[in-house]
Amino acid sequence: MKNILVIGSVGQIGSELTLELRKRYGSSNVVAGYRSTLPTGELLESGPSERVDATDAQRIAEVVKKYKIDTIYNLAAILSAVGESKPVVAWNIGIGGLMNCLEVAREYGCALSTPSSIGAFGGGTPLDNTPQDTIMRPQTMYGVSKVAGELLSDYYFKRFGVDTRSVRYPGIISNVTLPGGGTTDYAVEIYYEAVKNKKFISPLKAGTFLDMMYMPDAIDAAIDLMEADPSKLRHRNSFNITAMSFDPEIIAAEIKKHIPEFELQYNVDPMKQAIADSWPNNMDDSCAKEEWGWNPKWDLSEMTKDMLRVIGEKHKKGLI
Ligand code: SER
Repeated sequence: MKNILVIGSVGQIGSELTLELRKRYGSSNVVAGYRSTLPTGELLESGPSERVDATDAQRIAEVVKKYKIDTIYNLAAILSAVGESKPVVAWNIGIGGLMNCLEVAREYGCALSTPSSIGAFGGGTPLDNTPQDTIMRPQTMYGVSKVAGELLSDYYFKRFGVDTRSVRYPGIISNVTLPGGGTTDYAVEIYYEAVKNKKFISPLKAGTFLDMMYMPDAIDAAIDLMEADPSKLRHRNSFNITAMSFDPEIIAAEIKKHIPEFELQYNVDPMKQAIADSWPNNMDDSCAKEEWGWNPKWDLSEMTKDMLRVIGEKHKKGLI
């Protein structure tokens, strides 16, 4: 990777991935692509940014040409819960955007990474120790677009030799940019509410286990897979990766170790609950470990300490 374009650079993952890529590959070599929300702060000041709407193929091509881009991270997506209220928009951004990236990548010889998700599973998938290769019949538009995206990415690799690689992200927990409209977002919100109000109302029931990961591991995965030796990759789109699996009770118990008065209550959102029930409880990520050395560093206890520290500092400064 020499010259990199991140589409969706102001989102939850993009805002942190873009800065890490700039550290590793040089600030001027990583373009922050944004749609309606402009980059601000360090993201704006530390390197180039360009308006790039994933649904506008011509614009992607212009930016790729201008900066001699060789690698695209396409992070534009509508998450699972919002996708259910706007399925056509979710499809247009998820698949329309991906097709544009694939075509530009084919024409200009770029590598392309478009994350898939635990949302690609459902409808007959074994939910415990979910295998890398298994039944995938998701029931959300988010999941349908992720499965189609995996297939299209593999197709472009086999048919045209486009270097497509991607991971299936679990819920990503972070403290820089909030996620929006996902089913796993509760595991981010719980930390903010614990710091601000010492109380959280969970939209998912006790006993709802989902795979999760702290952002530094998610970023390492995105970069390490694109740097992996291609001769070792038996799979491409997309690799199961996970770092931990918990339910609301377990994360709450971990928070209580630091904030003893923290209270967890429930007000179950039936749509989110149905989505979560169709997703894996815990995935088998052994293929990622074998094929490109996936090795997560953060567990629930270390992540909780770090989340509460960072969010606590923001709260003291009046930033949240
Ligand atoms: N975080 C996503 C969601 O909940 C899953 O990949 O929609």
